[in-house]
Amino acid sequence: MDAFSRPELFDFHGVSMTHFFTDNWENIQNFQARPDDIIVATYPKTGNTWVSYILDLLHFGQTCPERDTSVPLHERVINLEIAMPAMQPGLSMKKGTEILDNVSTSPRLIRTHLPVQFLPKSFWEKNCKIVYVARNAKDTAVSYFHFERMAKIFPEPGDWSSYLQRFMDGKMVFGSWCDHVNGWWEKKQSYQNLHYMFYEDLIEDTGREIDKLCCFLGLSPSAEEKERIKGRVQFDDMKRNSMVNHLSVKNFDSKISPFMRKGKVGDWKNHFTVDQSEHFDEDYKKKMKNPTLQFRTEI
Ligand code: A3P
Repeated sequence: MDAFSRPELFDFHGVSMTHFFTDNWENIQNFQARPDDIIVATYPKTGNTWVSYILDLLHFGQTCPERDTSVPLHERVINLEIAMPAMQPGLSMKKGTEILDNVSTSPRLIRTHLPVQFLPKSFWEKNCKIVYVARNAKDTAVSYFHFERMAKIFPEPGDWSSYLQRFMDGKMVFGSWCDHVNGWWEKKQSYQNLHYMFYEDLIEDTGREIDKLCCFLGLSPSAEEKERIKGRVQFDDMKRNSMVNHLSVKNFDSKISPFMRKGKVGDWKNHFTVDQSEHFDEDYKKKMKNPTLQFRTEI
């Protein structure tokens, strides 16, 4: 298998994963957090890039404006679990933990898709601030489907109907959507430094959600700065912004589907048949038992 052929899913401590996110496991589990680290945790395709960008602008937009114009977002907010083979012979493997160990700016902004039980224990011990972003399951499934079509470092998605079944079965990279959103929701009940937010709320009122984030992070940007950030993180602006739109990422084929694809609530209606939607809803009711965790599939 060449280094970048599509990987196989396998069971990893009860969660479906691919080797790109488990090859560096020992270093991930032993990762040493710093007390001011800020983590953005999400299931894939639920707004990680969006919130990473907001956090980066909130922390560095004023003090280090050149960061925004010259450093790609994935080098500013580092993926913890990634372990990618080098793009060229002779270069070493790209490991999130190693990159993070060498970050000298503070706070470090760290993104992850790990389910809650896999987060390195050092983050809990150091009481780090964590922002979790969740998105309704139907739009997540659609977004993940298009992403897997274009991201050659993920498993082959196949056709939509078999993909949807696989999503419902939780046989996805980073496991089941239900387990992920519920696991982090339950953690929030006992861990104070966890801010749980929803993609749909961000779409509905980005300014309000930025205010809540500032409150959680203890930041007080000026009204002008907040307005500036709000403008900068709108979908169309991000889609045009080469530092955040992932157009130049190798192994992402934007001709198949762009990373900044639609950015909407309710696109699932363009993909699910009536039968698929009913079947999905039945299965959803059986699995999502906690009445305190509610998602909106339209706004
Ligand atoms: P769609 O595929 O539905 O368009 P992640 O960053 O976690 O991989 O999530 C990607 C999803 O978030 C994509 O969803 C992408 O378009 C959407 N997204 C990214 N930035 C956004 C923004 N500023 N506004 C709305 N959606 C955004």
